[in-house]
Order: sequence, then structure tokens, then C-alpha cells
Amino acid sequence: MSDKSWRRNTLLVHAGTPRVENIQPTALPIFPSTSYQSESAERLDRLMAGEVPGFSYARHGNPNVEALVDAMKELEEAQTGIATASGMAAIDAALYATGVRPGDTVLVSQDVYGASLNLLGTIWAESEIQVVVGDFTDLTRFESLLQKHKPTSILIETLSNPLLKILDVPRIAELAHTVEAQLIVDNTFTTPLIMQPLTLGADIVVHSATKYLGGHGDAMGGIVVAREDYHDRLHQYLKLRGAVLGPFEAWLIHRGLRTLGVRFEKQCQNAAIIAEALRTSQIFERVFYPLFSDHPTYSVAQRLLAPALGGAVVTLDLGGSQATAFRFLNELQLVGSATTVGDIYTLCLYPVIASHRNQSPEERQTMGITDSMVRVSVGLEDPDDVISDLIQAAKIARRKDGSVVMQQD
Ligand SMILES: Cc1ncc(COP(=O)(O)O)c(C=O)c1O
Repeated sequence: MSDKSWRRNTLLVHAGTPRVENIQPTALPIFPSTSYQSESAERLDRLMAGEVPGFSYARHGNPNVEALVDAMKELEEAQTGIATASGMAAIDAALYATGVRPGDTVLVSQDVYGASLNLLGTIWAESEIQVVVGDFTDLTRFESLLQKHKPTSILIETLSNPLLKILDVPRIAELAHTVEAQLIVDNTFTTPLIMQPLTLGADIVVHSATKYLGGHGDAMGGIVVAREDYHDRLHQYLKLRGAVLGPFEAWLIHRGLRTLGVRFEKQCQNAAIIAEALRTSQIFERVFYPLFSDHPTYSVAQRLLAPALGGAVVTLDLGGSQATAFRFLNELQLVGSATTVGDIYTLCLYPVIASHRNQSPEERQTMGITDSMVRVSVGLEDPDDVISDLIQAAKIARRKDGSVVMQQD
């Protein structure tokens, strides 16, 4: 778009703006524009009032973000949703959407991501929200916490980190609603391929899109999806707090989403193979995998997970101390050591210094997280290469401990 009469400074600003009417790209282009022009002041007025669809200002909406949110709404069977700058912002937005007020109580599962516990225990607790943490694998105890505290909101994860406990989402939702509490479910570790918590009775679902949804370790973001009644509060939060997802990140995460099916299914298959091989090796004190019959939540997992989709995370207890875990991480040749999950690369995380570093040793002990526990987020490499690497690193780490390594070569 240019006009021959325009002067240089006008051309500098306007020349090269593409005409898009005749272009139909297969992939949605990226719209970095922070504002959008309307054909008339009257239309802008109606747009700002939410009476007509369209875009005005990037904090209020962006085509790439909207495309990603629309996709997530379909995948999670939700009616409304927002995308945020990170998974933490998504959890914060979800809590706000439930209308928690000073004096109210939020019940939170002890097995949620460490930073989620910290968010509640610091920022929300400072606003005089009472935060009660409990073990929700015990439904009798959960029910008595509900009766005692009558919470406004409850936060749980489908598959916990690092112990990989599966919570009974349908039953928890049913019990929560008996005291009119709203259930927020963090579906990051299971993705909508394994579970669609809204269809199981949850009120709001959140994701760290930084993990499996994006999947390639190159974009940070969060998603909140819910029933229509949460629309206004979620959008108000986003517009006023401003923790919006950028268009580039939205585009990358949306592209990631398109291959989630094949990626996640393969990662789950690899995790099952790796978990079985590591258990058989007898080198590790314990191997945690949700579909092992000795896992504490196996019966719930059997009910809620498809046999081929047990999640793509395996947790290892090396036995020994923090020094053993450090040696193990330092000896890895192929597997990376990084504080994330859900990438195409297999990555180990040591909860004591990462996801659960702000929990005291006593709190970690109560949760069942030991000093020699390492979480493996399984990627897309050949599982045999990953198995060899984990075993060689564990052998060195434990030999230097003086441990007797029982092995099968
Ligand atoms: C289950 C879960 N929820 C939320 C988050 C926070 O996501 P983000 O790092 O994108 O803020 C994480 C991060 O690891 C997570 O594991």
C-alpha cells in the first residue's frame, strides 16, 4: 500500500504494507501489530464494547493468540479461554476467575508443581486467602477437608510431579461441587490427549503451554479454558493484569499443537519402554511410572488412562544422597539436565534443586520426594539410547557411593 504523492517519511512508515485480500496462506501469518485500525469510529466503539468481533489492541486480543485459544477450546471441550504469558500466569488467572476473596479458602493438592504451591503460599496468602494443602489421593481425608474449610476453589494436577500420582478427577469434582467449591485442574502433564478434565466435571483447566503443547522448548506460554460463565473474569484479568501471550509464542505453540498427537503418543510409548527397562535393570532403588501395578495410584490410573497413554514421564529413585543425584546428572551423555518437561528431547530434572527447591526437606519428605529422586521427561530419541545413557550414569553415580550395583548386562 503506497501513494505516489507520499513523501519520504510517510513512505518509510507505510511502504511495503502487504495487500492481503488475494493471499490465502496455509499457515496463519504472524500478526505482531500492537493495534488494529477500524473502518470507522462507530465500529471501533462497538468493538471496544465487545458487540462485534475483531481486534483493537494486542492486550485485548490478537489473531495468533485467538487461533491458539480456539484450538485449545475445541480440544478441551471448553466454551471460553485465554492464553497467558506463562503457565504460572494461567494458574493465577484461573484463581482470579473463581472469585476468591480475602477470608476465603483455597484447597490445594500437596502434589502440585512447587511454584504453584509458592504462588498460593506467598502472593495469594498475602491477600488474606487461607491456603490449605492436603493429600487428595486419600478421598476420605479430602472430603473432611472440604467439610471443614468449605473452600471457594481447589487446585489439583491430573498427573503429579515427580511422583506421577493420578488423581481421581471425576470423584474430586463431584465432591467439590457438594460444597460449591470450584475445581481448577492443571492438565499440563496429561494434555487433552489423555484427559479432558472439563468433561470429567472440572470447572477450569489450565496448562503450561511451555511443555507438551509447544513441545519444542522454544516458547513459553499458558492456557486457561473453562465454561462460558468464566468468560468475563478471565478476559478482565488478561486486559488489566496484562500477562498476555505474544503473537510469536502463540504461533509457535499453535504449530506445536498440530503435531501433539504424534509427538505425545510416541513419547508415552517411549516412556513405557524406558520405565520397564530401568525397572528390569535393578540398578535403581525404585522406578515410578503410573501404569506399574506397584504405583500407589495404579487403580485410578487404570480407570482414567488408556493403556498406551501412561504419560511421558518416568521418575527414578537412585538411592543414596544429593551427591548421588548430582553425579548421575553430571555423567549423562545424551540425556540433558534441564528444568522443564514435555520437550522432544529427553531431559532430567532434580526436584530438590528445581521444582521443589522452595519446599523444606520435611515438606518434601511428607510428599515422598527423596534426595536421590530424578524425574525423566521422555522425548523422541530411540528409547534404547536413552536407557543405555541412564543406566551408565546410574552405575557410575552409585559405584562412587560405594553402593552394590545389582545389574543385568
Ligand atoms: C504442572 C505445571 N504447571 C504449571 C507450570 C508453570 O508453567 P510455566 O513454567 O510455563 O510458567 C509448570 C512448570 O513447570 C508445571 O510443571
